[in-house]
Amino acid sequence: MPCTLITGSASGIGAAARQALLAAGHTVIGVDLRNAEITGDLSSAEGRKAVIAEALARCGGTLDGLVLCAGLGVQTKPVSLVASVNYFGAVELLDALLPALQQGVNPAAVVISSVASALLPWDKNPLAAACEAGDEAKVNAIVNAAGEQGGNLAYSGSKNALTVAVRRRAAAWGKAGVRLNTVAPGATETPLLQAGLQDPRYSESIKNFVAPIARRADPSEMASVIAFLMSPQASFVHGAQFYVDGGVDAVMRPTQF
Ligand SMILES: NC(=O)c1ccc[n+]([C@@H]2O[C@H](COP(=O)([O-])OP(=O)(O)OC[C@H]3O[C@@H](n4cnc5c(N)ncnc54)[C@H](O)[C@@H]3O)[C@@H](O)[C@H]2O)c1
Repeated sequence: MPCTLITGSASGIGAAARQALLAAGHTVIGVDLRNAEITGDLSSAEGRKAVIAEALARCGGTLDGLVLCAGLGVQTKPVSLVASVNYFGAVELLDALLPALQQGVNPAAVVISSVASALLPWDKNPLAAACEAGDEAKVNAIVNAAGEQGGNLAYSGSKNALTVAVRRRAAAWGKAGVRLNTVAPGATETPLLQAGLQDPRYSESIKNFVAPIARRADPSEMASVIAFLMSPQASFVHGAQFYVDGGVDAVMRPTQF
């Protein structure tokens, strides 16, 4: 029975991924702020260290799967938490848990990025260099200095850097025998999306962000793609970003892929 760690397992896409992977026969170790096997806070270096230690203790040093869903939206206060959770709360777990995944059977990892990762391209992303250098204090200082634009910058910038971080690891993880991919969801009906819709600073732009498939996704529509990427059916899928966005990226960037 594959053993899979899921962050953000208590809500939204992470909770749906949990259901899908349980149905596919996985044993799941959930990580979240509450209602999880491991209660922990991925927004600080100490919190991440504690989660990693508990995860390794629970799985006995061997993991077959890793699904990183924990994330915060544009409306989050303080805004500096966004990059801390979305970028550092994912990348530090990837690097720390690779040795455990290497011990697993058909090991795979899926990182939940966002269609927003393409809104702020790497060469225009003010957070890119500091993220890649692992300089969390600098990332947070840039975001804090952005004023009203801080939420969008923190969200799109951290998700762009996250997708790049995954792609940069494709060579090493391939060599290590662990598949690693991202899913880039479009607007999905979760508490994170609802919180953005309820914030007057962001509600209009979120409402206007309508996919060619003229509706928002249900979290189960992300979970089915995650379950596929985690399964042996995806055995040659590696280093890819799957847009599960109802066609938004195709419309936004028809000539770039
Ligand atoms: N919902 C959307 O429209 C949408 C679109 C694109 C990408 N995403 C991404 O999908 C992922 C899941 O989001 P969701 O929409 O399911 O949101 P959600 O709020 O329903 O779930 C996110 C989970 O992450 C957990 N989390 C937040 N901060 C944490 C911390 N410091 N430590 C540990 N856990 C923490 C929350 O407690 C929550 O259970 C996020 O990375 C989000 O950026 C969502």
